[in-house]
Amino acid sequence: MKLIIINGPNLNLLGKREPDVYGSTSFEDYFAQLQMKFKDVQLAYFQSNIEGEIINKLQEVGFTYDGIILNAAAYTHTSVGIGDAVKAVTTPVVEVHISNTFAREDFRHVSYISPGAKGVILGFGLRSYDLAIQSFL
Ligand code: DQA
Repeated sequence: MKLIIINGPNLNLLGKREPDVYGSTSFEDYFAQLQMKFKDVQLAYFQSNIEGEIINKLQEVGFTYDGIILNAAAYTHTSVGIGDAVKAVTTPVVEVHISNTFAREDFRHVSYISPGAKGVILGFGLRSYDLAIQSFL
């Protein structure tokens, strides 16, 4: 089972960024915990603050991997391009958010990713990623 977690803009600052919303653990530390927990899964990780790089990565892995776990962060609410890439690839994409975007500002209630996603997991903190991995097993 080959899965990849793709994180969008500002998620490289997890642990430092708005800890009341996103927690105080860095994604690198959490990713190490996931690798320990899911030893039988080949788990890759990619983060970019750049929309086109996220699209390039989706295209690169989206025909060979077994699953993509995508937190497009702010691009979730703006990016037709990432939404189209999710629809273009054959690998199933699970959309993930750390926070419950529906309990936040109205602009976060819109997702360009959801229409092409296999499913959506949000609001469980970093555990949302764990649940997304489990959804593929
Ligand atoms: C987020 C929610 C988005 O609205 C926000 O722009 C993010 C993170 C989340 O994981 O809760 O950067 O995707």
